[in-house]
Amino acid sequence: MLTIALSKGRLAEKAVELLEAAGYDCTAAKEKSRRLILEDEKAGLRFIMAKPTDVPTYVEYGAADIGVVGKDTLLEANRQLYEVIDLGFGKCRMCVCGPAELKDKLDLIPNKRVATKYPHIASTYFEQVKKESVEIIKLNGSIELAPLIGLSEVIVDIVESGRTLYENGLDVLETVADISARVVVNRVSMNMKAAEIRPMIAKLKEQVEILNRAEAEQN
Ligand code: PRP
Repeated sequence: MLTIALSKGRLAEKAVELLEAAGYDCTAAKEKSRRLILEDEKAGLRFIMAKPTDVPTYVEYGAADIGVVGKDTLLEANRQLYEVIDLGFGKCRMCVCGPAELKDKLDLIPNKRVATKYPHIASTYFEQVKKESVEIIKLNGSIELAPLIGLSEVIVDIVESGRTLYENGLDVLETVADISARVVVNRVSMNMKAAEIRPMIAKLKEQVEILNRAEAEQN
């Protein structure tokens, strides 16, 4: 039996579609209910429906063998896991954003205040990549508010369509990382359940390649 932790919401739906395309029976996962553990003994799969930020925790501790989660959550959680597949959906960017007039001038502001939902990603980027000391201010949402009301000079946040930034008069100043959904595996399960996990990884990779090829042909 493999236990798969899914990030409740859109990522879970896409992950289930992909598993089905790879030949796995996911009837249990598609059950419309509020149950949090959905098990199909015959298919050998148990799905747990987790809050996205908790998925790396379930997988690191082995409560789940496999997880599907955004790279943003993975980078922020910084857990000991194997990241095995870039699923290619849930694409967006982690960016430093702020007023457009700060473009190319970011390095000129000393002791910047950086508001973010991702304090680990933001501090790693400024302190280790840019070798700059900043003050990180943790917020839980509507991050774009911070520079508008003078709480911080810039933010580190997810940009998908760019609409939230645009409608609030802000812009991307620097890109920190490209984000998409990833498959992660518990380090012990990778060995102990290799007979089940390795073929699943291979089949999922095959499906991702098919989708990537179709997307490339369209563009
Ligand atoms: C996310 C993110 C941005 C927005 C980006 O917020 O924090 O605010 O989406 O998307 P866009 O580039 O397509 O406009 P979310 O909707 O998750 O809500 P939050 O502000 O409560 O974090």
